[in-house]
Amino acid sequence: MSESASQLPVAIAGTGSYVPERVLTNSDLEIMVETSDEWITTRTGIKERRIAAEDEFTSHMAVKASRKALEQAGLDPSDLELIIVATITPNTLTPATACYVQHDLGAHKAVAFDISAACSGFLYAMKLAERMISGGTCKNALILGAEKLSAFVNWDDRSTCVLFGDGAGAAVLKEAEPGGGQILATDTGTDGSQTDLLNIPGGGSACPITLENADQRLSTLAMVGTDVFKQAVTRMRDSANSVIERSGLRPEDIKLLIPHQANLRIIEAVTKRIEIPEDRVFVNLHKYGNTSAAACAIALDESHRAGKFGPGDHIVLVAFGAGLTWASAAIRW
Ligand code: ACO
Repeated sequence: MSESASQLPVAIAGTGSYVPERVLTNSDLEIMVETSDEWITTRTGIKERRIAAEDEFTSHMAVKASRKALEQAGLDPSDLELIIVATITPNTLTPATACYVQHDLGAHKAVAFDISAACSGFLYAMKLAERMISGGTCKNALILGAEKLSAFVNWDDRSTCVLFGDGAGAAVLKEAEPGGGQILATDTGTDGSQTDLLNIPGGGSACPITLENADQRLSTLAMVGTDVFKQAVTRMRDSANSVIERSGLRPEDIKLLIPHQANLRIIEAVTKRIEIPEDRVFVNLHKYGNTSAAACAIALDESHRAGKFGPGDHIVLVAFGAGLTWASAAIRW
């Protein structure tokens, strides 16, 4: 892929999503751990989540979401030039999940790699792909958020297992048509001083899983929920405000806010702070729980296909996750 000096406007040409068939309800969880539908609903807003089959991997869900996005964009996989998969639950530590996706799609021309930015990953991927197309590095890109979190959850830990679910979302990016939709502004941020608030401590080079520590569930998600909650609200507020402002928009110009789907109380607190009315905020976490990098991607596709916004409308996506990481995008559709 060759570079050119041009700065082209970039648009989203298609979206797609996929969630596994199996539904795990709050009532199901009541049987597994000491919890209640009432606790989960009032603390998080989550009612159920989807769980991938044992032989259904992150890449399989990603491919299903990709096919829908490519179809909507009218793009043949063989014409794809770039695939970025945002995930914290890859098929394998190496190679990248994007390589499996590339092969399954038959996207032989595409350069494919993963990024790890937890729940902010899809919007990190959007910024990266937008910059690469805009700078002339490639003509189009498929970006994905895809997670099989059920494989990394401690199903005996009630403080985390009720929160997460599996799924994938995709978007195809390409050069914008004159006068058409366009990604107006993106924002990404990281605070690496708080890595211990939310992590999977084992399974990496710092703490390989061995015979001695295998029973400690070190390759499952650990979280200091309350601290993450506070950080999520301020970081998402500031990030969303920055893209709204840099796009020359006011909150009343936003047709739909698509926030990361972790907790309804976080969404309500963020929405209030950026002064967007509740009826212009998309929420689907009651159906899927927190699907990390997939959450914004699935929500973008669902809201798009439900006609919640259309050509000329302005939307804002905003996410926050482990790292700590945060990201936003303001888009004219
Ligand atoms: N059922 C019943 N009781 C529970 C459960 C449960 N499932 N889980 C925890 N409790 C108990 C706790 O033990 C605690 O009991 P105690 O007071 O006797 O000690 C009590 O409920 C309150 O626990 P808190 O952790 O203070 O509950 P909180 O109101 O903070 O809600 C939650 C917890 C939902 C996790 C919230 O903190 C949250 O949403 N945090 C942010 C999550 C997030 O945004 N993550 C970022 C993205 S994820 C990623 O990047 C992968």
